[in-house]
Amino acid sequence: MTTIAIISSSVRQGRNSHRVALYLKNYLEENKLADADILDLKEYDFPLFHERLHLQKDPSPGALDLASRIRAADGVIIVTPEYNGGYPASLKNVVDLLTDEWRRKPVAISTVSDGPFGGTQVITSLQFSLWKIRAWTVPAMFPVLKVSEAFDENGVAADRKAADRRAAGFVSELLWCIEAKGKMA
Ligand SMILES: Cc1cc2nc3c(=O)[nH]c(=O)nc-3n(C[C@H](O)[C@H](O)[C@H](O)COP(=O)(O)O)c2cc1C
Repeated sequence: MTTIAIISSSVRQGRNSHRVALYLKNYLEENKLADADILDLKEYDFPLFHERLHLQKDPSPGALDLASRIRAADGVIIVTPEYNGGYPASLKNVVDLLTDEWRRKPVAISTVSDGPFGGTQVITSLQFSLWKIRAWTVPAMFPVLKVSEAFDENGVAADRKAADRRAAGFVSELLWCIEAKGKMA
């Protein structure tokens, strides 16, 4: 079975974008599309890293765990909130932590806001960082606007049919990329 790691990026108290990570995990597993592994940056509670993982002399178990789960995943979904038009420091911290783990890793981005624009201003900066680090970002989006109305705390969508229809298109691009990569190996 394909494994997809879902990075839940918000570490904020009372965060809402985690709901989208829960929804996507349920969507993938209920439809038997992939096993989903949520990498919760709030749970990891990382300090600001002073150096990339492969250059650290005594890496923390959490950093090693994150790296190995990304390495093990066939693809990654990043769920990110928009903070002041960019992606949060918690996410930049782990993007820069890893190197080879990102290389040619299929990645799909879901942006989230509580306002009407779905956090889409994040896309340009995050795509660019991931391109620089040699990940393979797929040209699909899953923007979520008014997240606290769209999903409950358990990740259940208010309009499940509409959410599932959008998720299908989003996830299929990522699965296509994973399959294409598999054919090249
Ligand atoms: C520091 C900060 C900056 C924010 N900036 C934006 C923004 O630029 N655009 C926007 O639509 N929402 C913004 N928001 C609101 C988020 O969209 C909202 O918190 C949403 O629930 C997603 O973030 P969360 O997962 O941390 O809750 C901001 C929130 C914080 C805490």
